[in-house]
Order: sequence, then structure tokens, then C-alpha cells
Amino acid sequence: MLGERLANRMKHLAKWGRKQGISCFRLYERDVPDYPAIVDWYGDPNAADPTRDGDAVAWLHARKKDDTPEKEIEHRRDAQAEILAGLNIPAERLHVKHRGRQRTGDGDRDQYERVDTKSTTKIVDEHGIRFEINLSDYLDVGLFLDHRPTRRSVGERAAGKRVLNLFAYTGAFSVHARAGGAVATTTVDMSRTYLDWYERNLTLNGLSSDRDHQVIQADCLQWLEAGPSSEHERYDIVICDPPTFSNSKRMKAGSFAIDRDHPDLLRWIARFVAPKGEVFFSTNSRSFELDDSAVPAGFGSREISNRSVPDDFRNQRIHRCWRLAEGWEQRR
Ligand SMILES: C[S@@+](CC[C@H](N)C(=O)[O-])C[C@H]1O[C@@H](n2cnc3c(N)ncnc32)[C@H](O)[C@@H]1O
Repeated sequence: MLGERLANRMKHLAKWGRKQGISCFRLYERDVPDYPAIVDWYGDPNAADPTRDGDAVAWLHARKKDDTPEKEIEHRRDAQAEILAGLNIPAERLHVKHRGRQRTGDGDRDQYERVDTKSTTKIVDEHGIRFEINLSDYLDVGLFLDHRPTRRSVGERAAGKRVLNLFAYTGAFSVHARAGGAVATTTVDMSRTYLDWYERNLTLNGLSSDRDHQVIQADCLQWLEAGPSSEHERYDIVICDPPTFSNSKRMKAGSFAIDRDHPDLLRWIARFVAPKGEVFFSTNSRSFELDDSAVPAGFGSREISNRSVPDDFRNQRIHRCWRLAEGWEQRR
């Protein structure tokens, strides 16, 4: 059942992807209830056969809460065999992840922590822009597929603009902005590992950081709270896709939780926005509600999730995304 479903989806999505200019997409998302898995496809650029030459990344979830460990192992084996057969790929091209917080001797493991050291990397293509992905070492590969339409949209409106990318991860939004002709970019993340990865993504596209295109390693909350360094530090486009939760000493509570702390976050961001500038604000929090009173004075907000979530995602609630613009009227 799973194999058949994957084969059919691949046939459809490979054609769809070619038209869109992409080779990476979400193939499967809990479509068959007996196989509660997620499978993403990272096709080889310039592949002879893009439906076969590529890597699959699978998150296999437990099927039933009361399955014995033996039953669970058997189910995982069965799911993996179905994926290999359905996609007609060798075992080394299937990369299986264990989603969710994995317990270690030290307590909960962070989602962004390294989980392996094999460094199986490859280059993929998205609308003509190249990205390095790492299939083996982290729970996420370095490119969140659900933000593909928003990255494209940022790239399309970036010409001549100043762009700020917060919680930037591997800087995919910034690379699109640079390729789209942004005159200045500031890319902020607290992880050196991910910022180095961003610099490699720039290099892959013939770009590099410089005086106008800065890379800043900092706690975004601390950096934002400090405010712009001068009157001139204003941005036309701000991208803010924060984690649902972050251990930040900057917050009074000793941590950052998007549901609770977004009013402060948006207020701080507003000080960096140029007249008529806009903010793309997104979250994966399932319980998130944008508090109308959290929209900063002088700004209006519109939810754009129905356009920002890509068609290959069955879960249309994978994220929610808003566009906040300076000068719009907010219906309060
Ligand atoms: C949800 S992802 C952002 C996804 C990214 N915008 C994208 O689309 O590729 C989380 C990123 O936030 C960073 N991060 C988490 N807490 C942070 C903080 N307080 N300050 C700066 N970066 C933080 C992590 O290092 C990680 O790179």
C-alpha cells in the first residue's frame, strides 16, 4: 500500500516539480493510516531520471501507542522495505529520521542538535538557486520545504530592497533575497554551524557576505531588544520564522515561547522596519493565535497561509504565515 502510493505520488510530483523548477518535495504525509510516516524527496539536479535519481528522507512514527517494541521494529522494517520498493532506490539512498524529542542520557535532545557525523551532503536546486543539504547529521536537512513559496516570494520582491532575516538557520531566505537583487541583507542566527552553512550556500550561488550583506551570530531576541544601531538601520523586508520554543535568557521567563512572547517580538521587530516595509512572520506552533493587539501600532496584518503552504503538503496547517505591513490599517 505505502509503496504503491509513493510510486503514484512520485509520478505526479516529478512532473509538477519540473514545471515549477524544483527537485525537492514532500512525497507522502500519513496518506495511508497504517503507515504514519512522512517522506520527502531530494532529487539530484540534472538527473537522467529525476523520479529515480535522488534521496528519500523518511520520518517513521509509531503506528500504535500499545505496539510492543518487537512489533514496532517489524513495522519500521516493513515501512522501509515499502519505501525502497515504491521509489525503486537502493537502501543507501533512504535516510530514516526519528522525529520528536529523542531522550538521551542528558535529557531532551534539541531539534537542531547534531545526531550523526556521517556528513552525507548533496546540492539541490530550488527555482534555479542551489542549496547544500545534509541528509545524515541532523533531524532537519538544512532546507525547510514548507517555506518554498515564501522564499520565492521574498526573492521576487527583493530587488533594490534591504532585507533582514531573523532565526535564519541556513539562510535560505537570504540567498533568495540576494539572488533577487537585495541591496543589503542582515542574516541573524545564534548558531555558528548554521551561519557557516549559510556562507556555503552563498558560495554555491556565486555570492559572499560583505559590508552590505552581513552575517550576525547573536540571540535574535537580545539583538532585537537592543534596537537599531542607527536611524539608517531599517529594512524593507523582514523575515521572522522563529522556533516554537527557545532557551533564551533574554526573556523574563528565562525562555522564549512563541505563543506567549510574540507581542514583544513583533514590537521589537517594528523598530527595524522602513516606512512601507513588510514583515513575513511564520510559526509552526499548532496552538498559535495571533493576538490582534500584538500587531504593532502603524502596522496591519493579513494571514497568507493559504498561499504560503505549498501544494505538495497534505497538511495545510504545517505552518501559519502572516504578512504585516507598515501603513496598513489593522482591523482591531
Ligand atoms: C525554526 S528554524 C528557522 C527556519 C528558517 N527561517 C528557514 O526557513 O530555513 C530555527 C533556527 O532558529 C535558531 N534559533 C533558535 N533560537 C534562537 C535565538 N534565540 N536567537 C537566534 N537564533 C535562534 C536556530 O539556531 C535555528 O537555526
